[in-house]
Amino acid sequence: MYSMSRLLKESWTLVEEQQDKVARHFYARIFLSNPQLRDLFPVQMDVQRARLLGAIVSAVQTVDDPERFDEYLRSLGRDHRKFHAEPEHYDLLRGALLEALRTYAGDQWSLEYEQAWRDGYDRIAQAMIRGAEEDSDTPPFWHAEVIKHERRSRDIAVFTCRPMQAIEYEAGQYLSLETGYQPRLWRMYSPANAMREDNTIDFHVRAIGAGWVSSALVRRLRAGDMLRLAAPMGSMTLDRSSSRDVVFVAGGTGLAPIKALIEELARFNRNRWVHVFFGAKDRDDLYDLEALTEFASRYPWVQVVTACSDDPTWSGEQGNISEVIARYGPWNNHDFFVSGSPKMVKATMRTLAELQVPSMRIKYDAFGDL
Ligand SMILES: Cc1cc2nc3c(=O)[nH]c(=O)nc-3n(C[C@H](O)[C@H](O)[C@H](O)COP(=O)(O)OP(=O)(O)OC[C@H]3O[C@@H](n4cnc5c(N)ncnc54)[C@H](O)[C@@H]3O)c2cc1C
Ligand code: HEM
Repeated sequence: MYSMSRLLKESWTLVEEQQDKVARHFYARIFLSNPQLRDLFPVQMDVQRARLLGAIVSAVQTVDDPERFDEYLRSLGRDHRKFHAEPEHYDLLRGALLEALRTYAGDQWSLEYEQAWRDGYDRIAQAMIRGAEEDSDTPPFWHAEVIKHERRSRDIAVFTCRPMQAIEYEAGQYLSLETGYQPRLWRMYSPANAMREDNTIDFHVRAIGAGWVSSALVRRLRAGDMLRLAAPMGSMTLDRSSSRDVVFVAGGTGLAPIKALIEELARFNRNRWVHVFFGAKDRDDLYDLEALTEFASRYPWVQVVTACSDDPTWSGEQGNISEVIARYGPWNNHDFFVSGSPKMVKATMRTLAELQVPSMRIKYDAFGDL
């Protein structure tokens, strides 16, 4: 059997340093042969030229572990219905990808490499198309009205929206969202509540420095605005059959999915202890302490520890939350859920590895590439 992943990795090194040109060629080829597809993409392509191409390249390179990624790819395919992606578009993108790679790889490009990319891409695309087909009875996206918007700190807002039709999701999942302020820019956000009877969903958003969507959500969004939400994704969900105690570790707005998970757990928990570690830079960024305090007073099985990394006057723990968890424990028989920036998630995973927590007991979502 030929090693597809070896060929993919080897051939990628031929173009890796020219990624930007490969991406330019890839998009030019797509838009030339199918100009109507241009409308699906953001207006300012320079901001994120590498986004889709980068995503396809990383997806194709996971091809030697198809079982692990199958569920993710199927939900990505479901999610892609918001772009009106049709099966024939997948063929078109494959053609553009192969042409761009061939053009920049130079003399060392071979038929063997080409076949590996073709096979790898097809496997990924088939899983995505299957996912989209399986979900054809739900809409490709939902319209939702913002019913409340609160600034909680300079950079953080909490808002509530009501989808016109119920969206079924599991606590701990995330979904992508588009605002009228930045059309066609979709970004992932995690509902901060377990599903409610009135279908409303809360989101917690931090405005990232030069961030397009997050600044609009924090600084411009108002009650009455409309949003579009797409299919829920992600597997940071509760295992109801586990009887282990639970440790939640949240950094900043990483608290959102953790709050949803605590609410969900409260619906059935009888005997599991829950430890919540919530960390931020300073007290302003601990923007939802009130809700955590309420959880702790309502549910005797919840214990909350807070930490600031850059606020010596804070009366809780001092330091990064990833270090603070090591001051408590032992954690040898717990289910862990970790959510926050890539830096915070990485540091927490390192601490947990040092504490010899088995990786199969840890679920995590990083708010960006790890
Ligand atoms: C699974 C998942 C769940 C998420 N859930 C939430 C959530 O509940 N709440 C929330 O606030 N965010 C969440 N995010 C992050 C969110 O999707 C966006 O990435 C973020 O809001 C930035 O989008 P933007 O359009 O403002 O920035 P972009 O325009 O995409 O980026 C602008 C610039 O900022 C850089 N950048 C992007 N993110 C960061 C970062 N975290 N730190 C430093 N620089 C950065 C980019 O590299 C780029 O240079 C989640 C992300 C993922 C993958
Ligand atoms: C194997 C095939 C594909 C894979 C693995 C893939 C994967 C992805 C991923 C992961 C993203 C999100 C990137 C991010 O915002 O961080 C993305 C964005 C996108 N995808 Fe796909 N995709 C595929 C095929 C397609 C097809 C066939 C279409 C057809 C229309 C499409 C249209 C888009 C668009 C419009 C975006 C948004 C781009 C942007 O915001 O710049 N994708 N894709």
